[in-house]
Amino acid sequence: MISRDTRLYLAAHPFAYPLVRLLARLGPAVRVPGLGVVVNDAATAREVLTDRRFRKDGPGSPADLWTPVLGPSVLLNMEGEAHLALRRRLAPLFTPGYAGGLVDDVLAAPLAALSARLAKGETVDLVDAMRVMAGAVICRVIGLGEVPEERARELFRDGERVVSMVSLRSRRLSDRQVATAREVLDRIGDTAAAAYRHGGEGTVMGRMRALGLSEAEARGAAGAFFLTGTETVATFVPRLVALLHDHRVTPSGGDDLDAAVEEAMRVTTPTPVMLRSVAEPARVGRVPVRPGDRVLIVTHNCARALGPFDPGRAHPPELRRLWFGAGAHFCIGYPLAMAEIKAVAEVLLTHRPRVTGRRAARGVLIPTYQHLWIKAT
Ligand code: HEM
Repeated sequence: MISRDTRLYLAAHPFAYPLVRLLARLGPAVRVPGLGVVVNDAATAREVLTDRRFRKDGPGSPADLWTPVLGPSVLLNMEGEAHLALRRRLAPLFTPGYAGGLVDDVLAAPLAALSARLAKGETVDLVDAMRVMAGAVICRVIGLGEVPEERARELFRDGERVVSMVSLRSRRLSDRQVATAREVLDRIGDTAAAAYRHGGEGTVMGRMRALGLSEAEARGAAGAFFLTGTETVATFVPRLVALLHDHRVTPSGGDDLDAAVEEAMRVTTPTPVMLRSVAEPARVGRVPVRPGDRVLIVTHNCARALGPFDPGRAHPPELRRLWFGAGAHFCIGYPLAMAEIKAVAEVLLTHRPRVTGRRAARGVLIPTYQHLWIKAT
């Protein structure tokens, strides 16, 4: 039977998803004309991600998609020394302690409001609530301070509009898409740059200045965080809650919740694919590749190979957190994402939420719910 989470993939990518799942049957790595070399297996994926011959700044890589919009130096399109140096300077912003403090501060009021609504017996659309909360966190990161709910929703919609310009087959954005995306990113960049210049060290952008980032680097980082760190988190929490409901699982918190979150990450894989460009002759599994080839790691296929959702399941070492990447580009926002997800999940679980209605989203890159209505039990 098709699981309800799989139906989200089918709603978002009705033609591409069945095809991508079929490719998984062709072996760990397979060359697909028009797409590149497709990787379906966790061990092979990890080999590619930790081998410097596979880069994020060559032809067919994420740089082709994002450099025209974000500029040349935003981590996700960099390699080598410059990439490492920028990551090192940003590291203090992404410790579990710093991320946890930021999330506690930004989400205290929205989480109290959410909890009160559930306690009163109201039906809550968790998708909307998550958009507001993830939007509020990213507003704080880029220096907007406290914002009204509508502003957080608006920011979320802007990000969604830009991210959904990309499909599995995209190699570049069209001129029109670049212009639209730049309009959004320029606004984010202007806000971030002002916060960089005037913000105290208590603010994220002010802290970037204190950490020695140039204004251009800080501006680019804000754009990258906005694009990578909003929808991924916001779409995941409703999927987590739906999975727990559908499988009648109620984590008791602590390690139990951690295991449920990791397992939900595995089956949902909010970032379903990763791209690399081949810089030197090499092999991907058994497939020989040459410079200029494109490698498409289908994280979703790698992760789904282990079977359906089961929070009691141990993840083998090659699969561990592959949904956040591996090697030099491992998600820098991991501590922030986990802090947000756990803060919301802990509050929700105290109400033993049950799903009273749902609708899948269409026309999005990251499969998710358009609405997920929940009520306290
Ligand atoms: C559920 C949430 C998230 C998931 C599943 C996720 C997943 C990923 C993955 C798979 C990568 C590596 C891509 C590759 O190697 O090609 C990545 C990189 C990255 N992520 Fe996340 N991410 C999440 C949340 C966040 C958040 C909250 C932020 C920051 C605010 C963030 C910022 C970044 C950045 C800047 C990179 C590029 C790092 C580099 O290239 O060095 N992510 N993420």
